[in-house]
Amino acid sequence: MEFSHESVVVRRGRRSRLPIVVAVHSTALGRAVGGCRMWAYDSWEDGLRDALRLSEGMTRKCAAAGLPNGGGKTVVVLPAGRSVTADERRAALHDVGDIVAELGGAYVTGPDAGTGPADMAVIGERTENVFCRPEAVGGSGDPSPFTALGVVAALRSTCLALFGSPALAGRRFAVIGLGHVGEQVARQLAAAGADLVLSDVDPAKRSLGAELGAVFAEPDAAATAEVDVLVPAALGGLLTRDLVPRLRCGAVAGAANNQLADPGVAELLREREILWAPDYIANAGGVVNAVSREVLGDEPEEAVKRIESIADTLTGLFETAARTKITTAQAADDLARRLLASPVPTARGL
Ligand code: PHE
Repeated sequence: MEFSHESVVVRRGRRSRLPIVVAVHSTALGRAVGGCRMWAYDSWEDGLRDALRLSEGMTRKCAAAGLPNGGGKTVVVLPAGRSVTADERRAALHDVGDIVAELGGAYVTGPDAGTGPADMAVIGERTENVFCRPEAVGGSGDPSPFTALGVVAALRSTCLALFGSPALAGRRFAVIGLGHVGEQVARQLAAAGADLVLSDVDPAKRSLGAELGAVFAEPDAAATAEVDVLVPAALGGLLTRDLVPRLRCGAVAGAANNQLADPGVAELLREREILWAPDYIANAGGVVNAVSREVLGDEPEEAVKRIESIADTLTGLFETAARTKITTAQAADDLARRLLASPVPTARGL
C-alpha cells in the first residue's frame, strides 16, 4: 500500500494501555470524519492496517456523497480472547478523545463497529469533535438507521439496473451480518415484501430469521445462495477471489466497508457480469446524516433526501461503468477523484 495519509497517530492509551490508531487520510475537502472502531484484532498491526484502509475509504465516501469533508478513522485494538471491563472501555474512549482533541479539529470521530452514541458521549467528555452523541445531549444519535436507509435506496437502484424496476417485492436477497445496520436492512426488505436468506456468525440471530419468515443459513451458504442480490453487512473482505466464482447472485450491494478482499476482485465480478454497488457509495447514509444534521444544520427531512440521493449516484455509476466498459469500482473511484480535485472552498465542513 502506498502511504497517502496526512497523519497517523499510533499510541498506547495513557489510561487504557490499549493500542489506539487515529488515521487522518485527507482534509482536502474539509475536516476528516470517520468512526471509532473498537474491535479485537490478532495484533495491533492488523488494527493499524484496518485504520489505514478504512480512513482512505472514508475520504472517497465523503467526496462521492458530496460532503465538505475528508476521511479518517479510529481503531481501538481490543485484546483478542478476553472481554474488556466497563472501566477499561471508558478509559479507552477518554484516550481516543484526547488524541482527537490534540488533532485540533482536523478530524471528527463518530461511531463504528463496536461503538455507539453512548460511547460518543464519553469521548465528548474530552473533545467537542465527535458526531452522533445521543439526541438527549444534542447529537444526531444512532447513525445505523440512516446507513440502512441508504443501503435500501442502493438496493432499489440495483434492482432497477438488474430488472428495469426498483421494486423490492418478490426479489430475493441474502443479508450477511445482522448487526446494527444489517438487521435494519433485513427488516426494511421484509417489510417491502422481499424474500430473504439471513446469516450471522452469532446463532442467537436465528430468531430474527424466524421473526421475518426468512431462511437462516451459515455465512458461506448464504454467500453462495441463489439470490438476486447478495447484501454484505458484516466486516470487510467478503468478496475474495475464491468466493466470486461460486457466487449465484445477479448483484452485490450492501453495508459493509471494504467488501473487496483485493482491488482486482472488481474485475472478476465484472467478468462474471455480477453488478457490484461500490461499498462506500451504498453505505454513506450514516455519515451523510451526521454531517447533514450536525454540520450543515439540515432538518431531518433534508438529511433523508441527501441519503436517498445515493440511489441516483449509484444509478449514474452503473450507467457510466456499462457505457465505458469499466468496473463500477473504477467508476466510483473516478467520481471521488474528480470531486477531490475540485474542492468547493465555500462548502468546507464545520
Ligand atoms: N461508521 C460510519 C461509516 O463507516 C462513519 C460515521 C462517521 C458515521 C461519523 C457517522 C458519523 O461510514
